[in-house]
Amino acid sequence: MSEIIVAVDGPAGSGKSSVSKEAARRLGYAYLDTGAAYRALAWHCLDEGIDVENADAVAERARSFDYATGMDPDHYFVRVGGEDITPDIREPRVTAVVSAVARVSEVREALNAMFRRMMSEHPRPGVIAEGRDITTVVAPDAPVRVLLTATEEARIARRSAEVSAQTTEATAQQLASRDRQDSRVVDFMTAADGVITIDSTDIDFEQTVQALIDTVRSGLSTE
Ligand code: DC
Repeated sequence: MSEIIVAVDGPAGSGKSSVSKEAARRLGYAYLDTGAAYRALAWHCLDEGIDVENADAVAERARSFDYATGMDPDHYFVRVGGEDITPDIREPRVTAVVSAVARVSEVREALNAMFRRMMSEHPRPGVIAEGRDITTVVAPDAPVRVLLTATEEARIARRSAEVSAQTTEATAQQLASRDRQDSRVVDFMTAADGVITIDSTDIDFEQTVQALIDTVRSGLSTE
């Protein structure tokens, strides 16, 4: 594994992707968006006409699909079979089925093995890996582990600003329903032992990035 792993977990709308990517850029670290792999697998199943409720078929795809992602925070991309699907994995039709794919335990095992390989193979001095179970399952021994949270109201407000084409109520319902489904699989709402919580409810993006960088520096200095 890379010398330095920074594990960041949190719910949808906590800002963990944009904050982790920016902190990685400033620290000169690699960035690993694990949710993108679950989304890419869901996209791939839809594309191939595979029933996402068929756990065996989805697990088989998780073990064999040709997935690639850019870990340089300045050159982020997501590819399946060489096709760039970076924007496609955020489409509502993918978001609607990604939890079904993510709850299959064989899928999680296959993707976790891939994440660990990716964290050990990049050329940078460290990596910020973000998702739902990085602090607890993927890299529980990481020297820095963070839970990035925000109140549900703050997370809905952020998502609404991103998804301007629908009402705030619709966004609130989707966010709550995805949190409910995802938290049946992993608990990303409470910090495990030794995990530091950063609450971004009352601080802006810049302050949250700074809080993460400060946490990395103080975590590494006490190693
Ligand atoms: O962070 P995101 O919204 O892009 O994640 C997409 C989905 O993948 C989300 O519904 C939860 C799931 N996920 C997971 O189960 N474990 C991870 N480490 C990352 C994401």
